[in-house]
Amino acid sequence: MTEHTVAVLAGDGIGPETTREALKVLAAVERASGERFRLEHAPFGAAAYFEHGHPFPQQTRDLCAKADAVLKGPVGLSHEKAAEIPVELQPERGGVVPLRGHLETFANLRPVVLPAELAHVSPLRDRIVGEGLDLVMVRELLGGLYTGDKHRGRDEHGRRFVAETLRYDEEQIRRVVRFAFELATKRKGVLHNIHKRNILESSVLWNEVVEEEAAHFPDVDVVHMLVDAAATHLCLDPAQFDVMVMENLFGDILSDQGGGLIGSLGLMPSACIGPERAYYEPAHGSAPDIAGGDVANPYSMIGCVALMLEHSFGLPEWSRRIFAAMRRVFRAGYATADLAESGSVLKPVGTAAFGDLVVEQLSKDEGS
Ligand code: IPM
Ligand code: MG
Repeated sequence: MTEHTVAVLAGDGIGPETTREALKVLAAVERASGERFRLEHAPFGAAAYFEHGHPFPQQTRDLCAKADAVLKGPVGLSHEKAAEIPVELQPERGGVVPLRGHLETFANLRPVVLPAELAHVSPLRDRIVGEGLDLVMVRELLGGLYTGDKHRGRDEHGRRFVAETLRYDEEQIRRVVRFAFELATKRKGVLHNIHKRNILESSVLWNEVVEEEAAHFPDVDVVHMLVDAAATHLCLDPAQFDVMVMENLFGDILSDQGGGLIGSLGLMPSACIGPERAYYEPAHGSAPDIAGGDVANPYSMIGCVALMLEHSFGLPEWSRRIFAAMRRVFRAGYATADLAESGSVLKPVGTAAFGDLVVEQLSKDEGS
């Protein structure tokens, strides 16, 4: 029997309540599979700042470095609350970006999946969505504008100015591009390379590396697409995409658009993968306005557990079962309020009830 250590950073806002449901599902997997998961909870995010003076305290750093995987909830506060924290210690800059660097998670896998059972929740028309959507965005997660030099000053006229640097070296590009090619080989053999080479020199280098790597993957068809055009194509014909690869900020923006296409960011788990370590986080924020109200959708956090089982622990079958269990909950007509709006055929259930339904469905699937 293997024991896996999981660092759990529940985060802020709806983080703790959605993480609770994700851990319920993990416990159900533990009972049925014989795998053992040792959970180590640690402070992270705005709550950690207020309690320990830092959004990513040393004890959490140490734990993340030695855990087999990290399960992280969303972080962040309302605009007004965030203003109480110095900029460099706000949870996004002082927590999330350093965590990514700490674990060297260069590839962020963001599946944009709309199960057939939920096809009607997409704002897109039926003829565009068909039987649902299934594509995956691979976002470079360490470089670009997020981590390049930043500078504010006054120019010779006394005007305030700002400069931030979009920097990539070829190895940073190559490793994420290769990761995307490998994924494309395992899926449909099509890779959309998203860039802005008509303006950005960084995209010119990016595309050169994509071409070099393409030579090693003759079975993958590469389609180069400008990022602005990709935004349109995602709305008009999302089915043309299977695997997409892009730099950090493009990926941040297009993956939220992906959440819009499938009707809710509540359906967006993600995996952040490094050479040795990985962590899992929803692509959505901490939604402080609904925190504690038992209305948040725990699908993304539960999906993070599924992705963790697949990518960190070599248990893809359990990952498949978790997603299948969630689909059966939708098929039975239950969903959280973000999906079950008034007039929808779905019946709204709370955060905890959704988690219970998933566990119930999962237990019906044992041994199948
Ligand atoms: C995301 C989030 C983060 C990002 C924030 C919280 C730093 O928006 O994971 O998409 O911009 O990467
Ligand atoms: Mg984002």
